[in-house]
Amino acid sequence: MFIRVIGSSLFKCLHEFSRARQGAHLQFPCRARSCHGNSNFLHPVMLGSDPRMSGHKHRRRKSCYHSNPTSLTRLQCTQNGAIRGEEISTIKQFILDNTVVTRNHLTPEVALRLMTSSCRLWSAPSEQSSSILAHCGIDEPFWAFYWPGGQALTRYLLDNPGVVSGKSVLDVGSGCGASAIAAALVGAKSVLANDIDKVAIQAVKLNAEMNSVAMTTTSRNLIGRLADHWDVVLLGDMFYDKDFTDTVTDWLRCLADRGTEVLIGDPGRIFLRDHPVRDCLVNIFTVDLSESCRLENNGMTQGFVWKLQA
Ligand SMILES: C[S@@+](CC[C@H](N)C(=O)[O-])C[C@H]1O[C@@H](n2cnc3c(N)ncnc32)[C@H](O)[C@@H]1O
Repeated sequence: MFIRVIGSSLFKCLHEFSRARQGAHLQFPCRARSCHGNSNFLHPVMLGSDPRMSGHKHRRRKSCYHSNPTSLTRLQCTQNGAIRGEEISTIKQFILDNTVVTRNHLTPEVALRLMTSSCRLWSAPSEQSSSILAHCGIDEPFWAFYWPGGQALTRYLLDNPGVVSGKSVLDVGSGCGASAIAAALVGAKSVLANDIDKVAIQAVKLNAEMNSVAMTTTSRNLIGRLADHWDVVLLGDMFYDKDFTDTVTDWLRCLADRGTEVLIGDPGRIFLRDHPVRDCLVNIFTVDLSESCRLENNGMTQGFVWKLQA
């Protein structure tokens, strides 16, 4: 019923979650109903209660994170959480078949494989797109969209190469990989693209290759990890849940205290806007979103880049 109300496309399904929750919070896609059915589905990746949301407490799971039982038909992970080689090929083929290369966003310097209106899943009836995704073992394809917070952050990096040039960079929640790619393009010494969605990791790899940049990737949950040092940590559009915002910002404060430059791209989502961490954020960049981006993101009009003060 919900799906019918909002329309049939997968795109709408992902992007109109927040509209469905307007009564509660006017927030992000991740915490509302899923395109996998009509039940209230909370994306496991986004939940504070999910063990993957507290990196230091993270324990390896025998199956991959896809919680939908049907999705396990294809993406059965090995004992240590890795995806098998043939499954990587399946994922890559899925990405190639269901995205197009586009530069139609705020950072045309970066070519990205994204799901656009010319892709079959965009306009397929939601039941059909859900079934295709489930058959391929793909959960919500957040990596197939270039989120407004990520667009702002990436634009900032391309316009200000000195911020990352010659530095070690971690991009947390990399999605399609745009910010990580931009960092590599403008001369970062090393780039680690991190996303706990293993499908996103394959999207990042395809996009990095297409832009002829090198980087390493990991699907480990790094949140809470203090053992490594990064000169710069990037987060594009990651604040969509209060518990998650609490956890991540605690970690980010520790990193900033240790000398890491923490840069956050966000289009004004309430969990960041109304969070106490806001008092420690300095706005260093603002950009107007494109008309299509505004439409796709519930009328959000601008993207902001914030620097976390130590
Ligand atoms: C809204 S998307 C943003 C993607 C990209 N940064 C952008 O702006 O286009 C959020 C991404 O964060 C990832 N994610 C969620 N929780 C995470 C965690 N604990 N560690 C790393 N990635 C995470 C999701 O899989 C998803 O790809």
